[in-house]
Amino acid sequence: MTWVVAWALVVGLRRAGAEPAVALLVVAALVGFVVTRFEERWRRVLIAAGFVFSGIALELDVPSWIWALAALPLLLAYPLRAWADAPFFPTPRHALQPLAAGLPLPAGARVLDAGCGIGHGLQALRRAGPQVQVHGIEWSAPLAWLCRRRCRFAQVQRGDMWAQAWGGFELVYLFQRPESMPRAYAKARAELAPGAWLLSLEFEVPGVAPELCLSAGRERTLWAYRMPERAQAALNVAAEVPIVRQRPRGRDARVCCKS
Ligand SMILES: C[S@@+](CC[C@H](N)C(=O)[O-])C[C@H]1O[C@@H](n2cnc3c(N)ncnc32)[C@H](O)[C@@H]1O
Repeated sequence: MTWVVAWALVVGLRRAGAEPAVALLVVAALVGFVVTRFEERWRRVLIAAGFVFSGIALELDVPSWIWALAALPLLLAYPLRAWADAPFFPTPRHALQPLAAGLPLPAGARVLDAGCGIGHGLQALRRAGPQVQVHGIEWSAPLAWLCRRRCRFAQVQRGDMWAQAWGGFELVYLFQRPESMPRAYAKARAELAPGAWLLSLEFEVPGVAPELCLSAGRERTLWAYRMPERAQAALNVAAEVPIVRQRPRGRDARVCCKS
């Protein structure tokens, strides 16, 4: 959005008679202002660098197929199979901090970030529970490679989270898409042990009452689903507990959602 608006402004200013250098300077200042509105460094770099990069590329007058080549690293980082779930988008640094008080895990508990990207979720899980064993699985080979290097404390595997067995994990963490949640919940119910947790940042499982909702800052919520005892699970299949549709309010609010 910023790149498109920036280029539209450059074109507009030029049509209004501004010198190229003046138009570029004015718009660069505006882009600089937009950049300060974001907290994450990677986002700032992307927003600022895109405008500058495209400006330089246009000046160089490169052939149009070079632009198509630029899509290759994107395809590698985000291969077709992963399109059904979420693209790479990192867990914010402090989003999982409420887990330390709200959902403490025993020492040595095995936790999995399913679709771990380059490891922001793994790092956040470790920060929230330094005593746990952190595992990650990621479909994109370059992201998994980078993740292994960034998170030497974790066991990171390159593979499909849907094909991987989730049994043996005390907690499976997801930051995917709303559409992935019913499938993830069905898999968790089939494979996780009673008492284990399915934890989702931002996206809830439709039609299922979470055991816990924790505020994850900046309007985000952590939805935590505890796997029931097998006998209880069979009963619940027919009559799922109704959802109390209540989001946590305020930075540190903690709301129990299950009645
Ligand atoms: C929103 S990102 C979350 C990254 C990481 N969990 C975090 O929170 O920082 C979703 C990640 O899931 C990966 N992904 C999508 N589908 C997948 C699949 N079927 N198996 C493994 N990883 C997958 C994507 O490549 C992407 O890196």
